[in-house]
Amino acid sequence: MNIKTIMVIGAGQMGNGIAQVAAQAGYTVYMNDIAQEIVDKGVETISGSLDRLVKKEKITAADKESILGRITPVTTYDEAANCDLAVEAVVEKMEIKAKIFGELDRIAPPHAILASNTSSLPITGIAACTKRPEKVIGMHFMNPVPVMKLVEVINGLATDPDVTKTVREAAESMGKVPVECRDVPGFVSNRVLMVMLNEALWELYEGVATAEGIDQIMKLGMNHPMGPLALADLIGLDTVLSILEVLQDGYGDPKYRPCPLLKSYVSAGWLGRKTGRGIYLYS
Ligand SMILES: NC(=O)c1ccc[n+]([C@@H]2O[C@H](COP(=O)([O-])OP(=O)(O)OC[C@H]3O[C@@H](n4cnc5c(N)ncnc54)[C@H](O)[C@@H]3O)[C@@H](O)[C@H]2O)c1
Repeated sequence: MNIKTIMVIGAGQMGNGIAQVAAQAGYTVYMNDIAQEIVDKGVETISGSLDRLVKKEKITAADKESILGRITPVTTYDEAANCDLAVEAVVEKMEIKAKIFGELDRIAPPHAILASNTSSLPITGIAACTKRPEKVIGMHFMNPVPVMKLVEVINGLATDPDVTKTVREAAESMGKVPVECRDVPGFVSNRVLMVMLNEALWELYEGVATAEGIDQIMKLGMNHPMGPLALADLIGLDTVLSILEVLQDGYGDPKYRPCPLLKSYVSAGWLGRKTGRGIYLYS
């Protein structure tokens, strides 16, 4: 299938990154969010990210303008009527994603593929909110999207292999490496990663070491480019909590129980970099 137009739903840290790499690959992009100021902020973030590429001489100033010119910020789902592929990247809440997939299914043309960037929610369950479960798939980009190579491609129970092939090709056209896995809670990436991040939060909660100490031990000792607490702040503590809840619910195993410290930070609105405060302070 020939993908020309992509709609990205959600203009937050993942959504604007996906819109950027899609526009850089030459696709026509609609970037949607619930309010004009949020999509405008998304465009601003993309513009800043492209400025850094111009500075590094990876693209020209003219390239930047044409990439931005391919992105139309929108606040309705109507533009889904023109898309060949929709990539949903809104908050990690099943009820919100379910509603969006119902809407996209109603508006998008029958050939359109509906993908979710979910970190952990069941693709099969999301697909069941539509009348085209064979065209629903997980397209899990990593953060920050313009930098990270991987796209984890998650096949739901009903996903058509041709849809998987098309999504793999689309990911490759954006300079990414697609790797497939089955639809299990947390997929491959977050089933492994979240246990580590949660354990680091438990260590902080128990006073085993300072946040800086925990991160430094993992960086210097394991050669991780970022410590687990700094990474949790980058991902967003609300997202980390939602993923742990999906893992706990999905496997019924107490090893995934979220650390109480994580819950209090989320209830305080200290969500990490995106709010200027999480485990660390950013302002
Ligand atoms: N943060 C990460 O490191 C990371 C990595 C991979 C995947 N993900 C997944 O990507 C998704 C988005 O995460 P994020 O970090 O970009 O979150 P974010 O909080 O930065 O952005 C979420 C955006 O969704 C928007 N939104 C909420 N309801 C909406 C609706 N009904 N219609 C349109 N937009 C709506 C919000 O306004 C917000 O701008 C989640 O499913 C998350 O699990 C996150």
